[in-house]
Amino acid sequence: MSENIYKPHTATITDIQLEAGGARPIRTITMQVDDPEVRPTFFHKPGQFALISSFGTGESVFAIASLPNKDGIVQVSVMKVGNVTSKIHELEIGDKVGVRGPYGNHFPLEEWEGKNIVFIGAGIGISPVRSVYQVALLPEERKKFGNITLIYGARTPADLAFKDEFKELDTRDDMNLWLCIDWKFGPKGPTGESSAEGWPAINMAAPGETVIPEGVNKFTCFVPQLVEVVKPDPENSIVVTCGPPIAIKFITQALEKLGWKSDQIYTTLENRMKCGIGKCGRCNIGDSYVCKHGPVYTHEQVKSLQNEF
Ligand SMILES: Cc1cc2nc3c(=O)[nH]c(=O)nc-3n(C[C@H](O)[C@H](O)[C@H](O)COP(=O)(O)OP(=O)(O)OC[C@H]3O[C@@H](n4cnc5c(N)ncnc54)[C@H](O)[C@@H]3O)c2cc1C
Ligand code: FES
Repeated sequence: MSENIYKPHTATITDIQLEAGGARPIRTITMQVDDPEVRPTFFHKPGQFALISSFGTGESVFAIASLPNKDGIVQVSVMKVGNVTSKIHELEIGDKVGVRGPYGNHFPLEEWEGKNIVFIGAGIGISPVRSVYQVALLPEERKKFGNITLIYGARTPADLAFKDEFKELDTRDDMNLWLCIDWKFGPKGPTGESSAEGWPAINMAAPGETVIPEGVNKFTCFVPQLVEVVKPDPENSIVVTCGPPIAIKFITQALEKLGWKSDQIYTTLENRMKCGIGKCGRCNIGDSYVCKHGPVYTHEQVKSLQNEF
């Protein structure tokens, strides 16, 4: 009898961390695949995803956030937005989940040796971006790349995920970290005022003209505006970005203004999925199945897919 490709492997939750509170909390869940013979098959590359099921509720797709390993350890950071993610947020250490994967393509880190890398994450989009910078910052990997810059923004300080990790990254002298939170909103939209103390507002009318005070690396603005403030140099460089589609659209525009070409910008798409393995036709854009040919694409590829569609 042939094996059922949709049948998940059982895994046991070994750790749970609350990464961000706010209206849509984020938890990082670590699990280990139960069957020791199956564990090595979960060795993944940065950018690949897994389908995690909460038994009796359903299955959802998450970027694998753990470092590649052969021990069947799978870590995902889950934002609570609906049915499955709410159920996953109720789970405790020792509970069982189902896991399928790793699926999809990956970020071609091996092709980027000698280049500068700029990582840009907006909201929960930091999760797949983190799966790549964690690898690039490992001591044996870090020396393969030029400058590393990390730009990350969330709605409020409470929504910023991985705070302890960012505190540690902020002390490293082999990378540059930039953070932002959203503007205070009024009835007519963003007001140009900071929404929290200690996060100075940028020049909203002309972000690129903002004068950066000595030693300050966190601001009030949207992520695309922070890109204009930081002005990452496109020379011999690659961008890895992920976030809500609207944020990606404006991040890409900000990069293009700075001279970046669309084949230098990599992103990971989060289309709705069902099977995760190119069988059901739920996730495609034109001829490309995001679960199989993606989720990692260059902005150039995304543009040509959208034109085809
Ligand atoms: C390749 C890939 C990687 C992903 N990585 C992560 C990750 O690391 N962490 C994480 O928290 N989420 C990630 N997601 C999104 C995650 O799969 C959805 O948030 C989740 O499936 C929602 O399930 P739910 O049953 O809780 O929500 P539902 O009850 O199905 O929906 C609740 C709300 O969320 C919206 N929604 C559902 N799925 C998506 C989606 N794929 N994209 C945008 N909006 C959606 C619905 O439209 C609805 O408004 C990823 C998605 C993909 C395709
Ligand atoms: S999710 Fe089924 S084809 Fe991609």
